[in-house]
Amino acid sequence: MRIGNHVLRSSWLSLLTTVLLGASTVQSIELQIDNEGRSPGARTAKEVATNMMTYYTGMNPGDNPGNLPDPYFWWEAGAMFNALIDYWFYTGDDTWNDITMQGMLWQAGDNAAFMPSNQSKTEGNDDQSFWAFTAMAAAERNFPNPPHGKPQWLEMAQAVFNTQVPRWDKSSCGGGLRWQIFTWNNGYNYKNTISTGGLFNLAARLAKYTKNETYQEWAEKAWDWTTNVGFMTPQYRFWDGASDLNNCSEMNKIEWTYNSGVYLLGAANMYNLTEDPKWKERTEKILAASDVFFTHDPPNVMYERACETINTCKVDQRSFKGYLARWMAQTTQMAPFTYDRVMQKLKASAQAAAKTCTGGDKGTTCGMKWTDQKWDHSKDFGQQMAALEVIQANLITRVAAPVTDDNGGTSKGNPNAGAPPSKPKPSELAFDITTGDKAGAGILTAMVIITIGGSAGWLIWD
Ligand SMILES: *[C@@H]1O[C@H](CO)[C@@H](O)[C@H](O)[C@H]1NC(C)=O
Ligand SMILES: *[C@@H]1O[C@H](CO)[C@@H](O)[C@H](O)[C@H]1NC(C)=O
Ligand SMILES: *[C@@H]1O[C@H](CO)[C@@H](O)[C@H](O)[C@H]1NC(C)=O
Ligand SMILES: *[C@@H]1O[C@H](CO)[C@@H](O)[C@H](O)[C@H]1NC(C)=O
Repeated sequence: MRIGNHVLRSSWLSLLTTVLLGASTVQSIELQIDNEGRSPGARTAKEVATNMMTYYTGMNPGDNPGNLPDPYFWWEAGAMFNALIDYWFYTGDDTWNDITMQGMLWQAGDNAAFMPSNQSKTEGNDDQSFWAFTAMAAAERNFPNPPHGKPQWLEMAQAVFNTQVPRWDKSSCGGGLRWQIFTWNNGYNYKNTISTGGLFNLAARLAKYTKNETYQEWAEKAWDWTTNVGFMTPQYRFWDGASDLNNCSEMNKIEWTYNSGVYLLGAANMYNLTEDPKWKERTEKILAASDVFFTHDPPNVMYERACETINTCKVDQRSFKGYLARWMAQTTQMAPFTYDRVMQKLKASAQAAAKTCTGGDKGTTCGMKWTDQKWDHSKDFGQQMAALEVIQANLITRVAAPVTDDNGGTSKGNPNAGAPPSKPKPSELAFDITTGDKAGAGILTAMVIITIGGSAGWLIWD
């Protein structure tokens, strides 16, 4: 059991009598936590995680490490590895560490920036970010380092940052990241909150980890743009995004849990790094505004308000609640003043979620709607992962805060990571230079432009 040097919060623990269960199935969730602070939560997490891992086949010979089978998209596998790293850190159980290492290294791609050529048909900035979050989490948690000669966790996170920064696109909406990386993908003309929020979150955590001011500046810039363009409202709520064809003047006002989460943890990191009251206020206000994602009856249970009550949550969306839970928990480490508010919600949500995990042969399949507090006869990878996330998030009280370069971190970085390999493929060329290429004229134009003068230093590969 890996227990951090954080003193257990006994007041909270004594309250936590029912969160998570022990027995061989998740049927009875009313077990006590013992005085040593050993909670049955770890065992519950294992049951739910074991069920989640029945979806993953990437470790089998002949299969493709780091991919989930249809209908699950590539990014969700990246998110899964983050859930597994957190699982290991929270519980000390290394059952899935080797699978995680294998999948992460396989998908890191030629330049360690999670842009494997297989994904160029669909990869968006947000997809890439979810893999970067996993690499960042591995660095922050001192997850076992990859072998010598392979890309390292911190290096991967930096590589993603270095590929996203040149995509910052001032040709419309005053800046921001487009949803899609590649001009030929649907959604290239859409600028969205999760893409810019991904860069914000990553930059803030890199700033905290490395103390390199460039990351801090980019976090500030991404935040400022998000508020200026109106993706974040003055009430600290987050819209989904807007088309850049009319300069982001018409918002798509859908609200998703993970957008609040991605900005929350970024703001908390900025607060921890700078101790600036403005970041404290931002952290506090995002958290308060995220109350819209929690029901009153039952109290404090998270729900995906945009789709859950009308049963329209699509494959990706079924996992979103898990990320808000993950990032709320981690916010308590960077901004301890949020602790009581966060834990009240995570506890109620985990209890409710665990009550849905009674489906399937083994009684460990979780439902979509935690508010039901019983299994709804549905099964899905993303909703299983979300239940795992909220259940294990309650173990945050037992683990140490993230390490940094100057405080225990062992992952090796490379601030210049992410440059394309020496012989770029056409797809990479197209992607490299088309940020701001409104006409989206594609590869040929792209090649011409870059020959004339790619401006970002890292574009010059030879
Ligand atoms: C890309 O697809 C090929 C063919 O399916 C596969 O062999 C390879 O492992 C894939 N690469 C990655 C990084 O998934
Ligand atoms: C587009 O939006 C940005 C940011 O809101 C603004 O600064 C810029 O002036 C707008 N451009 C046009 C042409 O309206
Ligand atoms: C920053 O994080 C550390 C580690 O959790 C914590 O001890 C410290 O109190 C935090 N700083 C602030 C200003 O909250
Ligand atoms: C800080 O990060 C920037 C951007 O990646 C990099 O160019 C620079 O070399 C880094 N500085 C140090 C001291 O590592």
